[in-house]
Amino acid sequence: MFKERNIGFIGFGNMAQAMADGLLSKQAIRPEQIYVCAKNWEKLKKNADSRSVHPCRSAVEVAEHSDMIILAVKPYLIQEVTEPIRQILSEKIVISVAAGCPFETYESILAPGTHHLSTIPNTPVSVGEGIIICERRHSLTEEEFSDFKELFSSIALIEEVETSQLSVAGTLSGCGPAFASMFLEALADGAVKQGLPRASAYRLASQMVIGTGSLQLQTGNHPGAMKDAVCSPGGTTIVGVAELERHGFRSAVIDAIDAIERGRS
Ligand SMILES: NC(=O)c1ccc[n+]([C@@H]2O[C@H](COP(=O)([O-])OP(=O)(O)OC[C@H]3O[C@@H](n4cnc5c(N)ncnc54)[C@H](OP(=O)(O)O)[C@@H]3O)[C@@H](O)[C@H]2O)c1
Repeated sequence: MFKERNIGFIGFGNMAQAMADGLLSKQAIRPEQIYVCAKNWEKLKKNADSRSVHPCRSAVEVAEHSDMIILAVKPYLIQEVTEPIRQILSEKIVISVAAGCPFETYESILAPGTHHLSTIPNTPVSVGEGIIICERRHSLTEEEFSDFKELFSSIALIEEVETSQLSVAGTLSGCGPAFASMFLEALADGAVKQGLPRASAYRLASQMVIGTGSLQLQTGNHPGAMKDAVCSPGGTTIVGVAELERHGFRSAVIDAIDAIERGRS
């Protein structure tokens, strides 16, 4: 479908650029099929020109040129930016990436009958290894949702969740990269302390995390069983596992998710 159709980004900041970069690098879409707008024209022009996508002066211009419109402004601006294009949006596919704006929010903002879907992507979409959480409740047709999944599965795992699970799913996938980056840094610090060059330590740490994640996704193995598989009795790995346990590694991660969710409620 998207071989002949256009995508518009209303708001072209970190998340929109990450999505566009992922789609372009995977050649899921051509630059001339992307229309973008933002607040600061000079900045937008620079960001659009560097990707050869179309910069637009207004959300109206983006919406008129696009079949699928991605709302990628901060959540508090969603109502303000959609108001002038309410009628145009009612004939398009509307995808929200704004955190905390589920189906119900758009039902009260958009024109009745507008086809819309609320999602939460994470930034690794820029390298085609992202996650896009989708609210199970949406008003896209089956064909539109299938087109959406076909296009965006080129850059992300698409996971459908209930409305009540959107927040925690977004926390895991959206805040997780910060936790994972801290883990990468700490692993590398430990290895550098023991004499491994810094660049090599980051490469090994990152590939180890990619490989472990891929192994889990491909086998469906329980993470506990994967841990057991590398812990031989009396061996070296279990010494490190015991040390992490002594420092409350797992409970610290669980508490981090709890703290974020508490802060949101
Ligand atoms: N970043 C993440 O990891 C992440 C993860 C999940 C969801 N999200 C969601 O993605 C959305 C965007 O976040 P972000 O991190 O990409 O923010 P951002 O980098 O600040 O980008 C926001 C964009 O909106 C533009 N904008 C501001 N006012 C506008 C207006 N009146 N009309 C059109 N565009 C306007 C900004 O333009 P100027 O730069 O010119 O001001 C900028 O391009 C948010 O709703 C957020 O909840 C982000």
